[in-house]
Amino acid sequence: MMRLSLNLFMLGLLLLLAACSAPPAPDTPRGASRSEAKAEAHSEDPAQARRSGFADMSAATQAMQRDDAANPAWLWVEEGRQHFAATCARCHRIDTLAGVAARYPAWDAVAARPFTLGQRIAACHARGSGGDGDAGAKAPTSADPHRNPLPPDSDTRIALEAFVALQSRGRPIAPPAEALLAPWRERGRALFQQRLGQLDLSCAQCHDQHAGQRLAGSLIPQGHATGYPIYRLEWQGMGTLQRRLRGCLHGVRAEPFGWDSDEMTALEVYLAARAAGMPMEAPAVRP
Ligand code: HEC
Ligand code: HEC
Repeated sequence: MMRLSLNLFMLGLLLLLAACSAPPAPDTPRGASRSEAKAEAHSEDPAQARRSGFADMSAATQAMQRDDAANPAWLWVEEGRQHFAATCARCHRIDTLAGVAARYPAWDAVAARPFTLGQRIAACHARGSGGDGDAGAKAPTSADPHRNPLPPDSDTRIALEAFVALQSRGRPIAPPAEALLAPWRERGRALFQQRLGQLDLSCAQCHDQHAGQRLAGSLIPQGHATGYPIYRLEWQGMGTLQRRLRGCLHGVRAEPFGWDSDEMTALEVYLAARAAGMPMEAPAVRP
């Protein structure tokens, strides 16, 4: 099954590259990615229109995302709500975390690096379950996201992330104007432009230059990370942005960057800037 879909992916890719010079479909927004700096600065400019992957989904999949009762992600949200009550509520009231997910990744002064939302939660979790006596007295910022009992792809971290991200649903993605984030954003931008893997393709070649075209039957989205963590039909489960990016890296036959690696974090910082102003959809559904 995996092999079949990979072969279909490769076939689609060849067709895509063969069709490289074809004019873009009329309904395809093009401008956003051509001049990335402009898109970031003038996100309200309709000529720079950015498009969520939601817009290209079938009516049935869109309905699944719109209706909380039909969205399978709610199983994780409910699990997250329970973990939150057990582990986090002694320091946080959930309503005070409204809007927080929309400005992640954010700079952590003590760790002197950006934390993605998942890393922030893992750092808090390490403190929260570590038997630290003075609850709430100290910021748990020194926790190292690389050494924590809440692995990046664990159901518990995904559930907590989904529950926290839901508190920002509908809010515009708003990366912090923290100067220290700039080098990470630039590193992420460079990674996005860099050709990778045996297929020697960059993220930008698919998501900027070929967005709106078809690859093995699926439309190549602009690749905006507006809805993470997502319930993905193909996974039959819930996954993080890192898992999604690993899938894209596998697609070009590249060795994926490690979980919570600096490369993944830099890409997340850049993707947040690239999608700045777009509404948060988490927890979204994707095909
Ligand atoms: C011992 C108290 C404590 C526990 C337990 C705790 N946190 Fe925190 N949390 C904090 C403090 C203090 C901060 C502020 C850190 C900072 O940014 O300086 C914080 C920050 C955060 C932030 C970022 C807020 C922002 O405005 O950027 C999130 C999200 C968060 N915590 C989620 C959680 C979750 C989810 C849990 C449970 C797994 C949890 N926390 C458990 C004390 C705690
Ligand atoms: C060969 C083309 C290709 C390359 C290269 C590629 N992707 Fe993708 N990407 C896709 C396709 C196709 C999808 C949608 C998959 C689906 O719907 O089944 C996707 C989905 C995504 C999404 C999810 C968007 C959403 O709506 O949730 C993000 C984010 C993304 N890619 C980022 C990246 C990044 C970052 C890179 C570089 C590390 C990259 N992609 C490389 C083809 C590519």
